[in-house]
Amino acid sequence: MEQKWWHGKVAYQIYPKSFCDSNGDGVGDLRGIISKLDYLQALGVDIVWLSPIYPSPFIDQGYDIADYVNIAPVFGNLDDFDELVAEAKKRNIDIVMDLVANHCSSEHEWFKKACADLNSEEAGYFYFVKGKDGKVPNNLRSYFGGSVWEPVPGHEGEDIYYSHYFAKAQPDLNWNNPKLREQVFNLVNFWIDRGVKGFRVDAILSIVKDLSFPDLPADDTDGMCHAAKMNAKLLDRIGPYLTELRDKTFKRANCFTVGEVLTVTTDSVSKFAGPDGYFSTLFDLSCREKIEAFPHYREYPTLSPDDFAECVFNTQELYQKVDAFVAPIIENHDEPRGVSYYMPEYLQNQVGAKTIATVLMFLRGIPFIYQGQEIGMTNTKFASIDEFDDIFAKSEYQDLIEHGYSDAEAVACCARHGRDNARTPMLWDDSDNAGFTTGKPWLRVHQDYKTLNVKSQFGVPGSTFSYYQQLIKLRKSEEYGPIFTYGRFDRLNIAKGVIAYTRSCDKCHQKIVIIANTNQEELRYSLGDQAANAKVLISANSAVLCADGTVVLGCGGAIVVAL
Ligand code: GLC
Repeated sequence: MEQKWWHGKVAYQIYPKSFCDSNGDGVGDLRGIISKLDYLQALGVDIVWLSPIYPSPFIDQGYDIADYVNIAPVFGNLDDFDELVAEAKKRNIDIVMDLVANHCSSEHEWFKKACADLNSEEAGYFYFVKGKDGKVPNNLRSYFGGSVWEPVPGHEGEDIYYSHYFAKAQPDLNWNNPKLREQVFNLVNFWIDRGVKGFRVDAILSIVKDLSFPDLPADDTDGMCHAAKMNAKLLDRIGPYLTELRDKTFKRANCFTVGEVLTVTTDSVSKFAGPDGYFSTLFDLSCREKIEAFPHYREYPTLSPDDFAECVFNTQELYQKVDAFVAPIIENHDEPRGVSYYMPEYLQNQVGAKTIATVLMFLRGIPFIYQGQEIGMTNTKFASIDEFDDIFAKSEYQDLIEHGYSDAEAVACCARHGRDNARTPMLWDDSDNAGFTTGKPWLRVHQDYKTLNVKSQFGVPGSTFSYYQQLIKLRKSEEYGPIFTYGRFDRLNIAKGVIAYTRSCDKCHQKIVIIANTNQEELRYSLGDQAANAKVLISANSAVLCADGTVVLGCGGAIVVAL
């Protein structure tokens, strides 16, 4: 594989609203992030992806952008941004922005002008479509519930609708229009020229539309079909758009790009993330995909550690087969905390945080850590629907109530699957509001902040934070870094509940085995003949390698051994 500047790096996602508030308004901001750059450097990460920081009405927490070339006042201004980029650079950290180009906000000038004049240039930036037989153009259901169609504001009753695959406040942009595409390329270049080194590309599969707007077979009793199923159908038509985007923007500055792309197939993965792919890499969202194959929270399955491993390992094998680069994650701002979602109940704690961290950090590709993951943040105990902010959780709460769930059951279900789990404030210390803000936090603080926080872990041997520091150091070490980045991946089947794999390199005769035990019972596993020169590179939760070449892993034990 041809080497790229971002190979071998470790990335970190910041959710700016919840990271650090410098001015006491209860919302995180850019100056807050600047104040924590030393922290990020100490952790050892190289690339920081910022979820959207643009002006927005925040209906979908900034993924509804009202101005692509500015900073939301609540986060700061362009000077703060420039300072952030420069200060990060001093610490060898590159900034990656969130590129949300499937849709903008209904507050964006483009949409306002478009609605005001259906013959304007801006009207062509959107999908304004006539209804069919007195009904909306097709039966697609939006990601957040309800039809993807809404009457164009100011033209109600005129049988003309706009498409929104996400919230009503997020009108879809018409990528079929070259003028719109040019606008998008300009805004990407605006940020490249300001020093950003890359982009996380949001919801990008949704940009292709079948202009005949056909119905799809209903997947629920509402007669509708999830819009994601249309994306899957149109996957092979997206190439020209993404090639043009790459060539007119990212390529100029040798950017690192990571796509939010669900529904990858053997065929598409090399096109998307192969050596000459549209993007540098794609997130491994296979677990989410398995869960979200069901339209509603009430149907979401629970993944066991084995299901989790199966998804992750299938992805590893798929990317390896076509020489593509993947970005493994265990959580992000759209998912509950990985330790609470994929670990059994008895490991939904600091022990399990280290177990799952060990599995994540040695996979092939570029691992992403989500803020708070490095201190083992678990799901938040939401007590009522009023404690949620997320538009998605609120719509699912309604769905649960409509399906006969009690309030307590519906809240529990939202608390299990809700995105707000990852969005509660970062826990810095044990002072009020976990040191996140001196004001009133915009979203409730995690229940365990008195004991679960950065201050209690930073510099403390054995803490989850220190363990992440060691994992990152090992992952990037001169000796083993290349094998973790490029080496062969093979799954290792040991026993149910045991997640294990090897990384190897034929040329350098190296082999590393990674084993994590999620069972309550102790695991004894012999490394066999290979154990003669075995060396433990890192271990957690009292896992050991015995003189006879057997590894002994108690509940949650995890070990990485070079053979
Ligand atoms: C992506 C984002 C998510 C957002 C959606 C619509 O999936 O990660 O947070 O709600 O796109 O922009």
